[in-house]
Amino acid sequence: MASLPLKLVAFAGILIHICLCIQVEAYASLLDRITALPGQPQVGFQQYSGYVTVDEKKQRALFYYFAEAETDPASKPLVLWLNGGPGCSSLGVGAFSENGPFRPNGQVLVRNEYSWNREANMLFLETPIGVGFSYSKDASSYQGVGDKITARDNLVFLKNWFLKFPQYRNRSLFITGESYAGHYIPQLADLMLEFNKKEELFNLKGIALGNPVLEFATDFNSRAEFFWSHGLISDATYTMFTSFCNYSRYVSEYYRGSVSPICSRVMSLVSRETSRFVDKYDVTLDVCISSVLSQSKVLTPKQVGETTVDVCVEDETVNYLNRKDVQKALHARLVGVRGWAVCSNILDYELLDLEIPTITVVGKLVKAGIPVMVYSGDQDSVIPLTGSRKLVNGLAKELKLETTVPYRVWFEGQQVGGWTQVYGNILSFATIRGASHEAPFSQPERSLVLFEAFLDSRPLPEAF
Ligand SMILES: *[C@@H]1O[C@H](CO)[C@@H](O)[C@H](O)[C@H]1NC(C)=O
Ligand SMILES: *[C@@H]1O[C@H](CO)[C@@H](O)[C@H](O)[C@H]1NC(C)=O
Repeated sequence: MASLPLKLVAFAGILIHICLCIQVEAYASLLDRITALPGQPQVGFQQYSGYVTVDEKKQRALFYYFAEAETDPASKPLVLWLNGGPGCSSLGVGAFSENGPFRPNGQVLVRNEYSWNREANMLFLETPIGVGFSYSKDASSYQGVGDKITARDNLVFLKNWFLKFPQYRNRSLFITGESYAGHYIPQLADLMLEFNKKEELFNLKGIALGNPVLEFATDFNSRAEFFWSHGLISDATYTMFTSFCNYSRYVSEYYRGSVSPICSRVMSLVSRETSRFVDKYDVTLDVCISSVLSQSKVLTPKQVGETTVDVCVEDETVNYLNRKDVQKALHARLVGVRGWAVCSNILDYELLDLEIPTITVVGKLVKAGIPVMVYSGDQDSVIPLTGSRKLVNGLAKELKLETTVPYRVWFEGQQVGGWTQVYGNILSFATIRGASHEAPFSQPERSLVLFEAFLDSRPLPEAF
């Protein structure tokens, strides 16, 4: 049935051809429309999901989930969200535990009151191939995927996605995401600006990067001080972690397959003291006991926590997205994998690409007039706020951008939502108080306030 309108087009005359093309495009997005996700509450907005081919020859296709804005989608911007890893899913992490409209809870989905689709049309992309439901029919494609291929595939994805959703072609476009998306996003934005020189396609209005990897050594070496100042390691271990073997050296050795005896010693001390029962992505948050223990194959009943956030949401998402009825509703297929996973087991990413600095690419974007916001969940020890703040500050100096909003608190309701500083009205830094690496997961309300300010290109609320 899907091929019928295409055949008609092939035999039609020019005028009819144009008319039918438009129909075919509309038809294509109709095929991706989600009637309802199993267990979802009734909502007034449309959802779509499915595949966009990025390479016909090798049959590589990326999976997306698109939640239109709750109200008046035609007047709202388009926002692409990317999670990091490299190799983790924007559907499972972003959409279903951070800023999407629903969160899985047992057999059902519950509404996320602070979903970012209150303000924008949210597009979640599982990238690169091998992540989540995205696939390549040729398994050899999973070797050697790195930043370059990922950025190019993401660009091709968007170009082809616009064929399915032509009404979004010239919409204000923002790219947001976190963690390793500190590589994906600036690299993709850079390619878009290049592409726009040939054909004005991407109406890019800004990028926001949450706890991003921007410069490997600065970001990773902030960890020692964060651990130490939060009481996770002793004074003695802190000294070793900063003078004998720092974290960037350890990671660098580890990815090259040769960890030196001194780094090995320092890291085992650090691991022992920090303990695996502390969530490194939010040192104040409880851990999901069943997840931590599953690594040692011990089965325990799920904890009924008293915290307001569900720290076991990852388990819930894995269960939900592996249901056959859910996959059917999402138009998703499992190709070459047994099940959907939060982070890919088959992708063999070029991990040394981690060392490519992207803060320089961010500088290029700012120079081209693209507003950039770097924000930090301030309880994250993986990419701590101190490293990100230093990098943004350094970039502002290099670009000779004056401070336009001095370092100050910002408010969400009557409470401090975090701190912020703006340079040259174009480059911003902000913390989100009490937030994890996945800020919208642990501080959804504050994250939404930050998102709104970012979309409107205005400083964060100064008072209440
Ligand atoms: C795209 O939108 C911009 C405003 O954001 C407008 O100036 C431009 O003419 C539009 N281009 C097309 C091809 O519609
Ligand atoms: C980390 O260790 C490397 C290698 O020993 C060294 O070159 C670098 O200066 C160190 N960085 C910091 C911030 O201590």
